[in-house]
Amino acid sequence: MEIPYLEYFGLTEKPFGLTPDSHFYFESQTHREAFEHLRFFLMQKEGIACIYGDVGTGKTVLSRLFIDSLNKNHYNTALILNPIMGDKEFLQVVLTELSIEHDPSSKKDMFSKLEEFLLLEFKKGKETIIVIDEAQLITDETFEFIRILSNLETDKEKILHIILFGQLELIERLRDPHLRYLSQRISVIYRLKTLHPDEVGHYITHRLLKAGSKGFVQFEDGAVQLIYNASKGYPRLINIICDRCLIALYSKSGRIVDEKVVKSVIADESLGAFLEHPKKTIPIKKIIYISAAVLILCILIILSVFNIIPVRSILEKFLK
Ligand SMILES: Nc1ncnc2c1ncn2[C@@H]1O[C@H](COP(=O)(O)OP(=O)(O)OP(=O)(O)O)[C@@H](O)[C@H]1O
Ligand SMILES: [Mg+2]
Repeated sequence: MEIPYLEYFGLTEKPFGLTPDSHFYFESQTHREAFEHLRFFLMQKEGIACIYGDVGTGKTVLSRLFIDSLNKNHYNTALILNPIMGDKEFLQVVLTELSIEHDPSSKKDMFSKLEEFLLLEFKKGKETIIVIDEAQLITDETFEFIRILSNLETDKEKILHIILFGQLELIERLRDPHLRYLSQRISVIYRLKTLHPDEVGHYITHRLLKAGSKGFVQFEDGAVQLIYNASKGYPRLINIICDRCLIALYSKSGRIVDEKVVKSVIADESLGAFLEHPKKTIPIKKIIYISAAVLILCILIILSVFNIIPVRSILEKFLK
């Protein structure tokens, strides 16, 4: 689809799209750290890796970039983007991703084909990695199957590496006692964070340059600060705001995004839903402790009001 402002701003493509296109990848501190954890995981050749983070922090873009960065002569990769499926279907998708011929009607056949493939590739010096995005959606049955897969090994080494990318719920699920068997196998874990305030301006400029900008459109420092305040450093929200700023600027033939432009964009009601940050869930344990404390306090108040226990004199004695 033709985007009206591209020609006006001298851009070759949309700079603030919502697709996780690794061409636009900006190496922020948190993304670099996540990447280093994954490199370390590959060197370590053990267990399962888990990169998790809030919605829109860049997990999918990172997973794609990581796969692109691997030397295809040394690594086979299977990327699973939507893991809501049973174990048989999961196995089938893995085999298809790895271009292994198989009989989809037999789970046993598929499993032995995979094992055969992994051993053969391993002997050739090639390692195989399964990358699963949206891992918080994996069913219990498939998690159990992933555990079995993660056990595939030769006498010395694992022959399959598994990397999970998922939202914060993934960690909640892995904490669940019945998934403990899997969480104990996680050898590398990293939480992706939001961008630091100092990184937001560089992120915006980076994406503009990648989209072909020659500097015609500019974001003032004050505008960048407002964008950070509104987005809290979530890359997806930054993209949404910046795209709206470009549309607003185009409509009045401007070239400088200043505070006024950002304020008008943020004030737009239709942006409200995007800017609401996910509410932090209070862990159940905390709720139980708080409820217990409130209950004890109520009982003490009732006892003291009806003078069943001389709470006041006990307290006075205690404080003396
Ligand atoms: N480091 C980055 N460099 C460039 N763009 C990024 C970066 N991180 C995130 N983005 C951009 O932010 C948007 C959201 O990223 P992405 O889809 O990867 O987030 P996510 O964490 O996978 O979100 P969700 O939890 O909803 O799946 C995309 O447009 C992506 O291109
Ligand atoms: Mg994603």
